Amino acid sequence: MPRTVRVAVTGAAGQIGYALLPRLASGSVFGPDTRVSLSLLEITPALPALEGVVMELQDCAFPLLGDIRVTDNAEEAFDGINWGLLVGSKPRGKGMERGDLIKENGPIFVGQGKALSKAAANVQVLVVGNPANTNSLIAMKHGVKGGIPRERFHAMTRLDQNRAMAQLAAKAGTDVADVTNMTIWGNHSATQYPDAENAKIKGRPCTDVIGHVGWLQGEFIQLIQQRGAAVIAARGLSSAASAANAALDHVMSVDSATPQGHWFSAAVAGDGSYGIDEDLIFGYPVRSDGKGNVSIVKGLELSEFARARIAATEKELQEERAVVQGLF
Ligand code: NAD
Ligand code: LMR
Repeated sequence: MPRTVRVAVTGAAGQIGYALLPRLASGSVFGPDTRVSLSLLEITPALPALEGVVMELQDCAFPLLGDIRVTDNAEEAFDGINWGLLVGSKPRGKGMERGDLIKENGPIFVGQGKALSKAAANVQVLVVGNPANTNSLIAMKHGVKGGIPRERFHAMTRLDQNRAMAQLAAKAGTDVADVTNMTIWGNHSATQYPDAENAKIKGRPCTDVIGHVGWLQGEFIQLIQQRGAAVIAARGLSSAASAANAALDHVMSVDSATPQGHWFSAAVAGDGSYGIDEDLIFGYPVRSDGKGNVSIVKGLELSEFARARIAATEKELQEERAVVQGLF
């Protein structure tokens, strides 16, 4: 009998849900020996549309797809899950910053954090819904009350990591697979700091390979910080295929042991590393032991330029936290 992993996806009838679910259900994320059962959460008015998504999943005849639970009740959705992918929330429109969503989306993560704490003690949680870091902090504040370790609450900076790797590879004229050790520090927002100084290309410092410090410290950083807004400007809708892909990359990276000398980007609860405020969900370089434990990579060298940018994104997250303090 294959092992079964149960994954909850919130906002499952939305555009990220539509891009994410077939890949999850196909078995490509957890591998050929793992059956995937799904718990799909939506708001009540979206349940009919979600039924259509479920029909399509059934019509794919995926051999590894287990049962599919559909509900508008968070506790029911999270009962016995191994993974919670918290996508459901409003996306920003043109001209907005992600932080502008905080008052509307923040309260969603109070209820879901409480529901997680009752229903799913042994769970990994990835918050995708924006503003992802602070929403994850809200969910964590409630989830820990039920005994879920704070280390299990993550927010997604993997899309930023992937964007940064793609841009560095293009600039260096090499394959994206040659780019490793890419860190996104801080907030999934326009203050994030994509760290080219510690990234590598074919194992060499990215700064040696690209050599164009002005570009790495200027255009490159702005491009990654503004990429979400650029997609919205072009599509009229926020990223969905690349966001779903990044969420699944995150799941796979947590589910497997990180190769020696490598790391990936995720926003996780602080542990005092780099002198950063511990009470934030902050983007760091992280490694997984493949057994559910993710830890922050210590000891990276940070230039004054890097420290100033990390301080700016930390300040923004502290300000977001102050806005939602009443939700903890
Ligand atoms: P969408 O509007 O297409 O779908 C969102 C879905 O969430 C809708 O179906 C809606 O009914 C549902 N929903 C709303 N409130 C809910 C609740 N309380 N419980 C369950 N479901 C609920 O939006 P989308 O494009 O799928 O984006 C979803 C979120 O992901 C947005 O906040 C967006 O900004 C964010 N996002 C984050 C990243 C990232 O890198 N972290 C990338 C892309 C998008
Ligand atoms: C992204 O980075 O594409 C998402 O966070 C959506 C957005 O609002 O930019």
